[in-house]
Amino acid sequence: MARRPLVMGNWKLNGSKAFTKALVEELKRELDGVTGCDVAIAPPVMYLAEAEAALNSCECSCQTKQIIALGSQNVDVNVSGAFTGDISTEMLKDFGAKYIIIGHSERRTYHKESDEFIAKKFAALKQADLVPVLCIGETEAENEAGQTEAVCAKQLDAVLNTLGADAFNGAVIAYEPVWAIGTGKSATPAQAQAVHAFIRGHIAKHSQAVADQVIIQYGGSVNDANAAELFTQPDIDGALVGGASLKAPAFAVIVKAAEKAKA
Ligand code: PGA
Repeated sequence: MARRPLVMGNWKLNGSKAFTKALVEELKRELDGVTGCDVAIAPPVMYLAEAEAALNSCECSCQTKQIIALGSQNVDVNVSGAFTGDISTEMLKDFGAKYIIIGHSERRTYHKESDEFIAKKFAALKQADLVPVLCIGETEAENEAGQTEAVCAKQLDAVLNTLGADAFNGAVIAYEPVWAIGTGKSATPAQAQAVHAFIRGHIAKHSQAVADQVIIQYGGSVNDANAAELFTQPDIDGALVGGASLKAPAFAVIVKAAEKAKA
């Protein structure tokens, strides 16, 4: 089954109003004419309004704004009430956000987010009809100890065992080995493919149909030089891009590489 690739930019804690406007305008120009790859950007939520406005301004191609979807780097499990500092699914929808990153290793590490809590976020997103981008992946120590598959299985099971395999219909998984994030040390295409095949196989134990359609992105030091080769792998359906998503030309090269490889 042909899966449509998805390349998503995770801007992390970077940007300003002016930066957001300028980068979105540049992305619209760079991505003009792309039809074979879904594209999303997750600026800091502070700047979703600027990103939405820049996408909707029609100075350049109106087609392009339709291929760049908005996303967010996090969401809370609660919809409203006394939850100081949190952002809800409904608020994200208000700005047209669609793809919501959950379980990023930086949140698992710095904010002590557990598998169970992340599964609750997954449920909240499904409830709100938003697309979860569930990040999973092992640390360097776990990798060296041969625990990569066990770690990925455990992180997937938190969702599979509470919501069932059908929750992955229309959802996205981002395999991001922690040792590859922001280090310049990407997994090799063969290394990543082996884990992606394991992830798809793990979902297939519950439902082959769900496994066949689920988008599995690779993330971790993806750039304009290594993306094309990663995308030649059959189970790599796109990328979650950090650093290289802050530069429109590099991000566009990655998007176009996915479009070409999966045509
Ligand atoms: P990186 O980040 O591309 O800068 O390694 C990827 C991510 O954390 O999503």
